[in-house]
Formats: sequence, C-alpha cells, structure tokens
Amino acid sequence: MTDSSLKTIGQQKGRRSWAEPWKIKAVEPIRMVSREERMRAMKEAGYNTFLLRSEDVYIDLLTDSGTGAMSDRQWAGIMMGDESYAGSRNFYRMEQAVQTYYGYSYVVPTHQGRGAEHLLSQNMIESGQYVPGNMYFTTTRLHHELAGGTFVDVIIDQAHDPRNEHPFKGNVDLDKLEALIKEVGAEKIAYISLAGTVNMAGGQPVSMANVRALRDFCDRYGIRIYLDATRMAENSFFIQQREEGYQDKSIATILKEFCSYTDGAWMSAKKDNLVNIGGWIAVNDADLFDALRNMVVIYEGLHTYGGMAGRDMEALAIGIEEAVEDDHVRSRVGQVLYLGELLLDWDIPIVKPVGGHAVFLDAKGFYPHIPQDQYPAQVLTAQLYLESGVRGMERGNVSAGRDPKTGDHRYPALELTRLAIPRRVYTQAHMDVVAEAVKIVYDAREQTRGLKMVYEPKDLRFFQSRFEPIA
Ligand SMILES: Cc1ncc(COP(=O)(O)O)c(C=O)c1O
Repeated sequence: MTDSSLKTIGQQKGRRSWAEPWKIKAVEPIRMVSREERMRAMKEAGYNTFLLRSEDVYIDLLTDSGTGAMSDRQWAGIMMGDESYAGSRNFYRMEQAVQTYYGYSYVVPTHQGRGAEHLLSQNMIESGQYVPGNMYFTTTRLHHELAGGTFVDVIIDQAHDPRNEHPFKGNVDLDKLEALIKEVGAEKIAYISLAGTVNMAGGQPVSMANVRALRDFCDRYGIRIYLDATRMAENSFFIQQREEGYQDKSIATILKEFCSYTDGAWMSAKKDNLVNIGGWIAVNDADLFDALRNMVVIYEGLHTYGGMAGRDMEALAIGIEEAVEDDHVRSRVGQVLYLGELLLDWDIPIVKPVGGHAVFLDAKGFYPHIPQDQYPAQVLTAQLYLESGVRGMERGNVSAGRDPKTGDHRYPALELTRLAIPRRVYTQAHMDVVAEAVKIVYDAREQTRGLKMVYEPKDLRFFQSRFEPIA
C-alpha cells in the first residue's frame, strides 16, 4: 500500500466521511465575476450584500432561506398543484404533514415565517406585555414590538461568547426568566418565544432537558411557550448527537418530543422544510386557532392557502417529510461542520461550536481595531465579497438595529458575518473555495478599515442600509 500524506477531512479527524444522500439531476451554472466588476457592484450596493444583484455573486451564502434545492419528488408534486381558491387538496396534505411530524392540532398556512409571526404576535401580545426569548431574531422581535410588546433576552450567558463551547448555547436561563417574572408579574408575560438552532447566537441548539424544564417552569406560572420551528430538524440532530439518551432515536422522534413541550409553533418553511416559499403556524388551542384563522384571511389569504399556491403547499408537504430524514440532516449539518472545521484548523475566529445552518465569522476577532459603530461585521462581509464573489450576511450591530426607547444602536455582544449554507445546493469543493477566500481576508485584516452608514431605514435596517468606506 502506498503511503500518502493526502487524507480526507474525515480521515484527519479519525472518523468516516459522510456524503450527501442524493445525486444531482439538474444544474444551474454560476460564474465568478472579475475583481473590477465586484468593486463596481459593491460600491453600487452601498457595501450591503442585500443590495447586490445575484448575477454578480459567485457562491451565495447570504441565507439558507428559500435557497435550497427541491427534490425530484417535490418537483413532481409541483405538477400536482390543486389551484382551487378554497379547500385545495394540497392544503390537507400539508396540514396532515405538520400534524404528523410536529404534533400540533391546528394548522394555518402563511406566505412565509414573518406572516406567521405577525398573526401570533397580534393575537397573543397585549400592549405593555413582555416576550422573553432565547435571543432576539430580527423579524420576530419587530413583530413583538409592533404588537406593543417588549422582547427580553433570557438565553444563557454562554450564548453571547463566540468562544464558549457549551453544547447547547441556545438554552433558556430559567433564573433570568424567574427574575423577570418576579419583577413584572406573570400576567405581564405574553408567552415565551423559544427558537431552535438559534440563528443570532450562531445556529446553536436548545437541549431536550432545557425545553422540558422550561415546560415545568411555565406550567407553574400558567405561561405558554411558542416555538420558532424554522430550524428544528437541525436542532433535533444536535440533540441526537450530544444529549444522553437520544443517540438511538430518530430525528423525527426527537422533533416530535421537543414540540410536545410547547403550545404551538411558527415556521419559515423556506429553511428546514425545503421549499423556496411558504410558512405556517400550528397551535393546540382551539380558540387561538379560531382567531388566527380569522386574521389570516385579512393579511395572507384564505385559511386553506395563506398566500401559497396549491403547488407550493404540495412541495411543502413533501419537504416536511424529507426534512426529518436522518441521512439528510446528517449531511446537511455535516457540510456546515466541514467548512467550520477548515477555518478552525487555520485558527480563524468563528463561533464555536460550529452551528447547524451556517458558519459565523467573529468580526471582532478579525478586526479588534474597528469600533462597533464602524460596523466590523458589515466590513468583513463586504471584504469577503470583494475578494472572492462569496456573499454572506452581517449579523451584528447593523442587524441589531436601534433601541426604540433610546434611539441608540443596540451594540450586541456578537458581531458576526454569517455564511449560511443553502440545503442540497453546494458541494465540498465550493466549501474549499469559500474557506480559502476567508483565509485571504483574514490575512489582510490589519490593513482593513471601517464603514460609515449613509442611509438608514427605520425598521430592519440591515436589509436596505447603505455604507461608504471611512477614508
Ligand atoms: C429564526 C427565524 N425566524 C423567522 C424567520 C422569518 O421567516 P421568513 O424569512 O420566512 O419571513 C427567519 C428568517 O430568516 C428566521 O431565520
């Protein structure tokens, strides 16, 4: 046998490599634009990757939302769309899939996640109430605020430290929750806004023990728990890998048990559920269901389509089934881990442990010389695009927005550039190219300067704000 120093990453880590449980049937060409074109495009986009045209992007890691590849089964399902205005058979397929895999009684379709957030917030929050949760999410918190609520972060402290390797950094800190209840009273708590695979914390999971304890705690105070189930299949995978007693349980079993400790969930189906558009909200309370169903017709569409076409609902029903297949989730999270481990081996600062849907670069670690009001993560995201045509997203001071009471920047502890990996889209070779580009940007860190914001929209400013380099 020849002795070769070339080793797969799996061999280097002393484990068997994983592979995707699919082969490719259709391809979409992508091309790398020249450095001059990238500089022009970035300037025109005001140094905001949301404002780039996708034609100017080489490898697109802006988001894992709606960017996944559907399976041949899902495309076949698209042809089975029943486009009746009312009572489409695809709705009943989708309703059944949510009931089977998530376990809730009543299902309302929405056009995407924020449509569901709107319905839940408007129906469950009274003005002046508090909504504790395990770290904010941009659209979720804004809907809390628009309904007159105030979000309170009750995630464990470790979540705010990118270097801390706690296996369940998404966990709720029950002491923080208890302190809030003592301060404001249980009747002032609208509900707990719990998220799996916590996006803004770096894709970090919640343990089964934590949600079980949260349920017991909330039962003592009569408080409900609503779950952002957007990435719960990935969260379930981490439970299977890391939590005592779950190694032999399937993702589907773990997901259903997790959901059973909550009172309902909302979903951006564009992520875990493997479709390009869609969402839903599902609850166990018949009265709340009635209220949601009444409201959905005002903002989304009839309660049997909620803004989706019949074909979208069919693809979603199939996507729900595929999303919980163990081989799929293992390879999906495995690809994120692959990219993360390359960067960790080169001592590049990223959020640890590597998350479920994305690798998060720690911009404070890249640029300790750039103050937070010069937006280090926005800078890093722009630099990566300029260097390589790879598009990521800022998840730091710009995304956190301003405190509605004081008008100041919120200055979050985490200042991150997110490289979100679309599901079933890119190969290991793409991940190698991304890793090499990040390394070049890291090596040039000391010469890199900050940005100033020159246009700032009022809400969700990260989508449309514009920047210029500081001379
Ligand atoms: C955790 C989480 N919740 C909710 C949403 C909102 O969903 P949508 O983009 O489908 O409106 C997102 C989308 O990025 C998300 O990541």
